[in-house]
Amino acid sequence: MTTPRTTGWQVYQRLIGYSLKYWRYMVVAIVGLIASAVTQPMFAWILGPLLDKAILQRDPVVIQWLPLGIMGIFLLRGMAMFLSGYYIGLVGRQVTKMLRDQVFTHMLRMPVRFFENTQSGKLLAYVSYYIDQVANASIRGVTSLIQDSATIIGLLGLMFYQSWQLTLAMLVIVPLIALIVMYATRRLRLLSHKVQDSVSNVTQIANEMIRGYKVVRIFNGEKYEAQRFSDANEQNIHLQMKRMVTELLSTPLVQFMVALALAAMVYIATRESTLETLSPGTFMSFIMSMILLLTPVRNLTQLNAQLQTAIAAGEGIFELLDSQAEKDHGSMALEHCKGEVAFHNVSFAYPGVGKPVLHNINLTVRPGEKIALVGKSGSGKTTLVNLLPRFHDVENGEIRLDGVALQDIRLHSLRRQIAYVGQEIVLFNDSVRNNIAYGDMRDLPDAQIRAAAEAAHALEFIEKLPHGFDTQIGDNGVMLSGGQRQRLSIARAILSPAPVLILDEATSALDTESERHIQAALDRLLDNRTTFIIAHRLSTIENADRILVMQDGEIIESGKHADLMAQNGQYARLHAMQFHDETTA
Ligand SMILES: Nc1ncnc2c1ncn2[C@@H]1O[C@H](COP(=O)(O)OP(=O)(O)O)[C@@H](O)[C@H]1O
Ligand SMILES: [Mg+2]
Repeated sequence: MTTPRTTGWQVYQRLIGYSLKYWRYMVVAIVGLIASAVTQPMFAWILGPLLDKAILQRDPVVIQWLPLGIMGIFLLRGMAMFLSGYYIGLVGRQVTKMLRDQVFTHMLRMPVRFFENTQSGKLLAYVSYYIDQVANASIRGVTSLIQDSATIIGLLGLMFYQSWQLTLAMLVIVPLIALIVMYATRRLRLLSHKVQDSVSNVTQIANEMIRGYKVVRIFNGEKYEAQRFSDANEQNIHLQMKRMVTELLSTPLVQFMVALALAAMVYIATRESTLETLSPGTFMSFIMSMILLLTPVRNLTQLNAQLQTAIAAGEGIFELLDSQAEKDHGSMALEHCKGEVAFHNVSFAYPGVGKPVLHNINLTVRPGEKIALVGKSGSGKTTLVNLLPRFHDVENGEIRLDGVALQDIRLHSLRRQIAYVGQEIVLFNDSVRNNIAYGDMRDLPDAQIRAAAEAAHALEFIEKLPHGFDTQIGDNGVMLSGGQRQRLSIARAILSPAPVLILDEATSALDTESERHIQAALDRLLDNRTTFIIAHRLSTIENADRILVMQDGEIIESGKHADLMAQNGQYARLHAMQFHDETTA
């Protein structure tokens, strides 16, 4: 058995903290809950006069008022329950919304490493499943906590008033109940954690299949995926059942304890000596109180399951909210940098991976210089350029932009200096226009967006779309071809006024013809921008100012195309290989 990470109370306190913002609603809700709780002892009590006065003594006043009293009690109960239900629900929904916003905003600030290391199913579960769990379980928990404990206090109060001897005898049984409840608590909390983990496994596998359905189909992975899903599903149901059994067992056990108490009561109450001090009505009312106690006691034992669910989900959420956001300690704000980039003795290893991926990189790039990075896949090109926007932080060595160490620049300000077309194209389920004019560029004039699209050779196909720039392109641009998607993401980078541009295999999905066109447009447009181009096809980067050849995380050759060819080293070999491929293809 693993020990819980934080005490449940701490988590619950924090959850309560969120609802305190809505304390006015909470007050109304609590008043409602207590009012509805009070109706229970009222109902038990009224049985006393019903039997003694109305039935046995046939007191006309009591006979007249009793029906009205009963109606009154239930009317009060109904209104109180509506009010409390409404306001608790309202607070619960507000807290959900607040938490969901916080989690999403926090994710936006998490370091890239976090997204690399966490299953996307789990991340999605945070904004959906976990938060719903917290909300539902807390709402039910709070309702039951207040209403049921108030009911129990009220009923016990009435019972003490009617016969303290009988009540005390009954209470002997309570510690036994408490023991069972405590055991169930620990088990339920542990199981809730496991169930949550297994739900995110199920989501993860479904999510992978949905994203990768083409690969799954083509490689006939259906059987494998179905098996994997079914295993996770099976695991999930297994844990759910275990949790359910614990829940189901704890309730009848507690009820049996109460029944034992009830039996003992009836036994004691029917002794001669007791019968003398209790009127039949009071005795009826006492037994009714005991019966009415059963439900809130049972609820309280279930409450525990609910609180544990809320706490387990809350723990997950707070763990995320407490996790370290991206480090952003820089104070320097760059307006528009010149674009001088310098790497000094930079070595880099991915966190948690021992072997360094970059060794001792030294490189100074003049403002406006076009740098091309070439090398076999896995040689570290992507890693190198990803250090610039600080997707990862350098531990050894230093990178400077316009002479300022990257860590000293505010992240927002640093990233404003950089436009990026990554290896993976990212498009949003939005219009063509909004996909090009994304983020800071949201409000740029249409003419500028059009010009960027034209430069990226995207205008021709955009104009053929049913609604032109207003066409919705679907989830990650499913309605477009690979080349069209790539052109949109290039248009986005062209539109950005950032002085540093990173193109990581940005034209890989284009045919050679379009690639040349775009390259020409880029050369023209990006005259004054510092550019890092990672190209697969060497023919496209021949007129770069400098070509760096990377191998195993090191820059092994550097120079202009002609020089490198003359050097007859790795570059010349790569070139020969590609030339061979292109002529034979
Ligand atoms: N997020 C990551 N975590 C751990 N290792 C990584 C990660 N990304 C890349 N690598 C490793 O770093 C090396 C360089 O990768 P990368 O920079 O993507 O190469 P390239 O872009 O030249 O193909 C590879 O060996 C790869 O396995
Ligand atoms: Mg790469």
